[in-house]
Amino acid sequence: MAGMAPEGSQFDAKHYDSKMQELLQSLRPDHIKMFVLDEADEMLSRGFKDQVELAKMLLNEGQMHLFEHWPEPGVDDDKKKSFFDQVRRLNSSYPGGLVSYIQNARKLLADSKAGKNPYDGFTPSVPSGEVLTFGDDNFVSLEAAGVKEARNAAFVLVAGGLGERLGYKGIKVALPRETTTGKCFLQHYIESILSLQEASCKMVDDGCHTKIPFVIMTSDDTNALTIQLLESNSYFGMEPSQVKILKQEKVACLADNDARLALDPNDKYRIQTKPHGHGDVHSLLYSSGLLEQWKSEGRKWVLFFQDTNGLLFNAIPSALGVSAIKGYNVNSLAVPRKAKEAIGGITKLTHVDGRTMVINVEYNQLDPLLRATGHPDGDANCETGYSPYPGNINQLILELGPYIEELKKTHGAISEFVNPKYTDSTKMTFKSSTRLECMMQDYPKTLPPSAKVGFTVMDTWLAYAPVKNNPEDAAKVPKGNPYHSATSGEMAIYRANSLILRKAGAQIADPVVDTFNGQEVEVWPRITWSPRWGLIFRNVKEKLRGDSSISQRSALAINGRNIFLEGLSLDGTLIVNSVDEAEVKITGHVQNKGWTIQHVDYKDTSEKEEIRIRGFKFEKVEQLEVNYTEPGKHSLSA
Ligand code: UTP
Repeated sequence: MAGMAPEGSQFDAKHYDSKMQELLQSLRPDHIKMFVLDEADEMLSRGFKDQVELAKMLLNEGQMHLFEHWPEPGVDDDKKKSFFDQVRRLNSSYPGGLVSYIQNARKLLADSKAGKNPYDGFTPSVPSGEVLTFGDDNFVSLEAAGVKEARNAAFVLVAGGLGERLGYKGIKVALPRETTTGKCFLQHYIESILSLQEASCKMVDDGCHTKIPFVIMTSDDTNALTIQLLESNSYFGMEPSQVKILKQEKVACLADNDARLALDPNDKYRIQTKPHGHGDVHSLLYSSGLLEQWKSEGRKWVLFFQDTNGLLFNAIPSALGVSAIKGYNVNSLAVPRKAKEAIGGITKLTHVDGRTMVINVEYNQLDPLLRATGHPDGDANCETGYSPYPGNINQLILELGPYIEELKKTHGAISEFVNPKYTDSTKMTFKSSTRLECMMQDYPKTLPPSAKVGFTVMDTWLAYAPVKNNPEDAAKVPKGNPYHSATSGEMAIYRANSLILRKAGAQIADPVVDTFNGQEVEVWPRITWSPRWGLIFRNVKEKLRGDSSISQRSALAINGRNIFLEGLSLDGTLIVNSVDEAEVKITGHVQNKGWTIQHVDYKDTSEKEEIRIRGFKFEKVEQLEVNYTEPGKHSLSA
């Protein structure tokens, strides 16, 4: 038995043997007699043997501390059994089981302690990709190409994250994307996918009836609330069979450099667990069988996106167009990035042994890597005023065929990392337990050099405004850096929509600057529209037919497919709802007292959390709301 001890661990064979005896007795003493002697009861016997095997495995991996506090046989048997139920789950949900997990952890923890650089031997260079300019001819034709491809796509939302930085008590996808309409992120995503589905199918002469699949990866922290949100809103108009939920499991926490598993501080019969990161999405998709199913349906693309980027679907059509036209196996969406900005840079890495890969390098690793490889200025801005390494926004478009081939080799395992917070420079102890993590954007690390890995850069105002930080932390963000808060996330939507309408020819007033929850932001007119109104730029241009103007204090919510602004002058609040079969013409001058913006302190608990975290709410003083529920032609002449 001593031979089974892992190399390098402080393993005591004698202790092992006696501990094993003790453990076997403490598990189910009556069962030992019964099952071991009574071969007839095979089922129960197997269950028990399974526990013994798991116990042996843990002891072999230096985890005897997990049992050290166990009381004598017969005490807490139910808890001991549930301990093994958890170990069984942890063992089966990690590729290679807990043995692999612990061994990988030991190696990564040793590397971390030794300060080993994961990029040793690699030289960075700027990869090739596409830089798009919103609204120009190239952009417009790429959008058309992307819409055409959309019917061959599947969407995957990773929504298993804890959202610790935001600290919101609910799930992030249930937060309002903006509070003019109050529609949540998930509703906006689903409406955008349905609009793409419809627009894409219309482009096929012989008709198409595809239902674009939508996968949501959840975790124990988000699963029940995500399902509840979908069910209580009739899946926001999507067919329930289109939506698949894949739940990721957490992984065991690690208490020290020997990868001893950490016990839950509140329950000594539970191993503490934490999320493994969004990289799990690849192995879950692989094992779900969905990828093969999509391939057999003729699908070509899988689009991955995150929980709170309210601007993402402004970027999807053109980026998908880039993937299709350039034949990219992997296309990462990116935004211009100032040198040293706290966002990962897309980088080509070439190893001394000839290996190359195009991946995201975290900003705190990119600068030292450049300095160590002959770039004395490190990560510096080039003549464009930005770093030549574009900022990764973690939205990926993968070509399905090559993706499946790669996953057949790796089964979706993604290279992991560990990030322990040490108590001091000796790196002997951790401030709190850590765990192995993996990121979905590390998928290209294992690809062969022949893989076509590129990126698509779009303006930040158009494509990226995540909601990640709580008000207090956002207010501390150094000036000039993005807040990534609920405040900035909502204001970014109004800014993008205003700029899109401007580009389409409308006169949109300049913003004013205001401060909410300690964050200075531009306040543009509160303009929103449903995805079926303005899915791509061409749709927006088609629906602006005369000279329209919108004042800064205005709010405009357009909810309907065929609503045409034909010389609207808006100074106040206008809400237009129409059924798809109606065609609505809006002309003339709409003036009313409108909705004013009230400041809200995030500490003011009389306000709902959704409001407090953005620091403002609308006081609905006066508005014009029109509803067209019948098909046919209508007009509003104010
Ligand atoms: P974030 O980096 O925003 O992490 O995740 P988070 O866990 O949600 O938030 P913090 O770091 O605790 O503040 C980016 C995306 O990846 C998903 C998140 O839901 C988000 O869409 N994610 C993250 C997962 O799906 N699983 C994970 O284990 C972690």
